[in-house]
Amino acid sequence: MTPALAAQQSLSLSEAETQKLWQLSRLAAGASEASPLALSGLLLDLPKAVRTALLEFAEGSGDSGFFLLRGVTLGDLPPTPTVHHSGALRGHPTDGTLTLVADLLGSLVGYQDEKDGDLIHDVHAVPGEEKRIENSGSVAFDFHTENVHHPLRPDYLGLLCLRQDHDRVAATRVASVREAVRHLTPEQVAVLRTPQFYSSYPTSFTRGRTGPVPRSGPHPAIFGPEDRPFMRFNSHTTHAADPEATVALKALAEALEAVCHNVVLEPGDLVVVDNHVAAHGRSPFVPRYDGQDRWLRRFYSVRSILGWTQHMMTRQRVIPTMEEIQGVL
Ligand SMILES: [Fe+2]
Repeated sequence: MTPALAAQQSLSLSEAETQKLWQLSRLAAGASEASPLALSGLLLDLPKAVRTALLEFAEGSGDSGFFLLRGVTLGDLPPTPTVHHSGALRGHPTDGTLTLVADLLGSLVGYQDEKDGDLIHDVHAVPGEEKRIENSGSVAFDFHTENVHHPLRPDYLGLLCLRQDHDRVAATRVASVREAVRHLTPEQVAVLRTPQFYSSYPTSFTRGRTGPVPRSGPHPAIFGPEDRPFMRFNSHTTHAADPEATVALKALAEALEAVCHNVVLEPGDLVVVDNHVAAHGRSPFVPRYDGQDRWLRRFYSVRSILGWTQHMMTRQRVIPTMEEIQGVL
């Protein structure tokens, strides 16, 4: 059963707030690859309720680790794409919306290794890739924190719903480690806190590569203060050699399931997730490839970009390849 959504976890925009956000989004569209400084004036103009809610979330995302903004204007949309990198919405006002929200939380970033460094990712099914455990699939995508293998993981991610699946059943599943630990024993938590876990690179980072899948680690699956823990975990790619640790990982996945919020996003809903507090996933759905399939857009945001990383970037906001930063962190 899905726990009820607390009022402090969501904000429904008023008509005036919706219009203001749309106006600023149109100005920000096309500027996502500009310096974050270029957008600072627009950020100050965001409706006060939006600024306050998102800045408070960034300051401390609470127990649930996610926030839902409802009533975002989407404008005219083309048919849902069926190929990667369609560029169907390049320069669209929703680029601006996502850039503004990401920059209010921190800084919008992409990864050179993933989707050629794209800053805004289109999430929709692609024919023939239904079983892939990534954006282009339609099978269940179990709980994961984003880019679990990476030393510079996003602090936040955002998912804006443009279209629901035909059957309106696909849910964005969000589960917080702060709620999940109540379903674990102290012994299991202690095991999960030891740096003995390894995470394979996700398929979105290895597309087109051959040979064995690289992995990173060792790392803990749970870390941070006892009463406000953080998580680094992907139920598909995080593993341990030790049998006791493997059992603890399974218990963590089950605990996340027990506290999961199934958020069925509707067009104009934007869910923001604290990537160190809550894991997310997707329930399965059946795509029809008729131009009206489920379509979300995603951003990543980091609270700050390390100086050396910024100076290594060859493109504004794009984190260098794993090969370039291997062993630095
Ligand atoms: Fe994800």
